[in-house]
Amino acid sequence: MCGIVGYAGGREAQQILLDCLKRLEYRGYDSSGIAVVGADLQLFKSKGEIAVLESSMPVMKGSFGIAHTRWATQGKPTTENAHPLADCSNRFAVVHNGIISNFMDLRESLQKDGHTFSSETDTEVFSHLVESEYKGDLLEAVRNALKRVDGTYAFAVVTHGKDEVVAARNESPLVIGLGDGENFLASDVTALLKYTNLMVYMSDGEVARITKDSVTILDREGREVKREPQRISWSLDDAEKGGYPHFMLKEIFEQPNAIHESMLGRVESLESEPFFQGSPFSSVKIIACGTSYHAGLTGKYILEELSRTPTTVQISSEYRYSTASRENPLVVLVTQSGETLDTMAAAREARKRGHRTVGIANVMGSAITREVDHVIYTRAGPEIGVAATKTFVTQLVAMYLLGMDLGMQTKAMSAQGKRSMIGQLRNLPRAVQDVLNQADEIEALAKKYSSAKDMFFIGRNINYPIALEGALKTKEISYIHGEGFPAGELKHGPLALLSKDSPVVAVAVKDHTYEKMLGNISEVSARGSPVIAIGFEGDTELAKYADDVIYIREIPPLFSPVPVIVVLQLLAYYLARERGCPIDKPKNIAKTVTVE
Ligand code: G6P
Repeated sequence: MCGIVGYAGGREAQQILLDCLKRLEYRGYDSSGIAVVGADLQLFKSKGEIAVLESSMPVMKGSFGIAHTRWATQGKPTTENAHPLADCSNRFAVVHNGIISNFMDLRESLQKDGHTFSSETDTEVFSHLVESEYKGDLLEAVRNALKRVDGTYAFAVVTHGKDEVVAARNESPLVIGLGDGENFLASDVTALLKYTNLMVYMSDGEVARITKDSVTILDREGREVKREPQRISWSLDDAEKGGYPHFMLKEIFEQPNAIHESMLGRVESLESEPFFQGSPFSSVKIIACGTSYHAGLTGKYILEELSRTPTTVQISSEYRYSTASRENPLVVLVTQSGETLDTMAAAREARKRGHRTVGIANVMGSAITREVDHVIYTRAGPEIGVAATKTFVTQLVAMYLLGMDLGMQTKAMSAQGKRSMIGQLRNLPRAVQDVLNQADEIEALAKKYSSAKDMFFIGRNINYPIALEGALKTKEISYIHGEGFPAGELKHGPLALLSKDSPVVAVAVKDHTYEKMLGNISEVSARGSPVIAIGFEGDTELAKYADDVIYIREIPPLFSPVPVIVVLQLLAYYLARERGCPIDKPKNIAKTVTVE
């Protein structure tokens, strides 16, 4: 996974490319590089974060160029393997996001033809392919080179003597930004918002020629594609830190508004405009990865409660191994980026199996939105921190909306039930704000427990997947080993791991699981582990069992995952801050995973 940008315009390209590239650092940050076309082709790369590139690169004159931030998949993160990668003659520079699966064969055959390689990457074969196909037209050379390439890609290519950037896309995201006397290219719209909000999304199989005054897109067969640009409503402010020390904290604090935006105009119109009318499905299958998978697991409880539709949840990368059943489920693909390759592959497989598909995505025009029959956008705004927060909470909102929609169709939900649901949904931003108001208390708790080696998270019923998500947040940003369990499973193994250095976070809201949760908390305390409980305001009992308690506003248990996860996000955030971790860019992980 990597981020790429391109610029074709009347201004000096170097700083613009760098500026856009910095906004893509969430996609990878082990090395980066830039190529600028002026009097000649200038190329500079370095190992490490973009700041290293910025501080070491020479001034490069020219108004065309490409740049890349890398997250290594093929070849170690070194300066040699950083992009752009050039051909033998240093005339063509290529940046790439994706994987060329037949690169070994290509490399061998190019070497036989006399090409010499200077990196271990799959990408470099493409520079040499373009070199050997070039007969004066860069776009044609790229199209011919692509005929020999298998795999996934977003490519951008420049060459000396041509005032253009040529781009190609297959399964990796690529968007063209339209400016006035200048045009842009990027893996993600957030990279370009400072310069333009008018975007054209490229589709799979397309190749584009971008000059300062024109954009030409060709489909696989070489026919010109006319596509209306879309105006993106996200602002630059949305994509910047706005005074917060980290994007993650900013995004946690944006959640009341994100929830509000996600519901806006939708809850009222569900009856007149249902998502699915007369749909012939008897069950739901939710497919996702990572945090989105946890939203799916939580969604199972929501959909089954609201619509009585049997729901199963599967990890995207595992779906392909499942045998097609006689059931004809509605397949719901959850992905904040809309680009996760395993989820895309699952969407295709589901369609091949003849199922109706719905995508729950945050990024407008992202790949998944073109693969599914219906899209529910989560409207969380851009999320830059690698750890998903506001996209998760708005995925839960999407689940409530979907549950209501199905519930009205299956008649499991009455008109009265619907009215009450709408009222409860509207209360959610306030319940979240209450948690945010306790950020200082949660920070103090994080200080108290920051030297923990392991942390366990337990919950029951709908708060079991929230325990899993709390554990994931903790491990990915604070590097404390976190594990989530259904509280009832503790005695089947995990109890053996408990000690005074392994605090246990227990979700114990007052629902039908409450008494059992108190029992589990007692089990934990008896083994000497400190317990941090999360319960409802006014619950005086809980403090007698737990060492520390965080209170959330009392709301119907079906909605408790929303404020509870905000507590756990803040806890993970402050633990990571206390431990001096690189919160927005944790090591070895990236926000958008476009490899299988
Ligand atoms: C990566 C990210 C996670 C995310 C997962 C799925 O692992 O680091 O935060 O939950 O991908 O991403 P998606 O875009 O499909 O929701």
